Amino acid sequence: NKDSRMRVAVLTLSDKASIGQRKDESGPLIEKIMTEHGYNVTSVTVIADDENEIVSQLINLSDRCQNDLILTTGGTGLSLRDVTPEATMKVMTRNVPGISEALRYESMKYTNKAMLSRGVSVLRNKTLIINLPGSPKAVKESLDIILGPLKHGLEIMK
Ligand code: MTE
Repeated sequence: NKDSRMRVAVLTLSDKASIGQRKDESGPLIEKIMTEHGYNVTSVTVIADDENEIVSQLINLSDRCQNDLILTTGGTGLSLRDVTPEATMKVMTRNVPGISEALRYESMKYTNKAMLSRGVSVLRNKTLIINLPGSPKAVKESLDIILGPLKHGLEIMK
């Protein structure tokens, strides 16, 4: 009776949420949507916008926890503290640029500020890591864009 669902970890990057100055709504929203789509959400973690901390979490969630997918939210913009893409690129074994290209392109329908997200998508060995923007609105829109092709991509990786 082994659980055959895809394992997904959610990682929220937010200085304020990490110290309880604001509630993380985006992490739980990703958890809800992914669960509704048949994924096994193994963890929802909130940490500060600290590059070294993000790198070690990403390594832990891929190498040790063996997730098939890590969805990050937040820290993709232009402010000095936004370092999610840099941390993600540090742990990558292969680039998967098309996912982030599609996210920016399709998201321009909703807001032309979509071009301001620097999010990247990469593989770390057998774990796919996708950076989503921070707001719940952006998370919902982004998942609508990627969920279809994502299912196919993860099946090929298995
Ligand atoms: N993408 C979608 N689909 N919807 C959005 O509302 N917001 C944009 C962009 N991408 C948005 C979006 C905005 S306003 C910013 S600043 C960037 O994502 C970066 O967001 P982040 O810093 O929270 O990661």
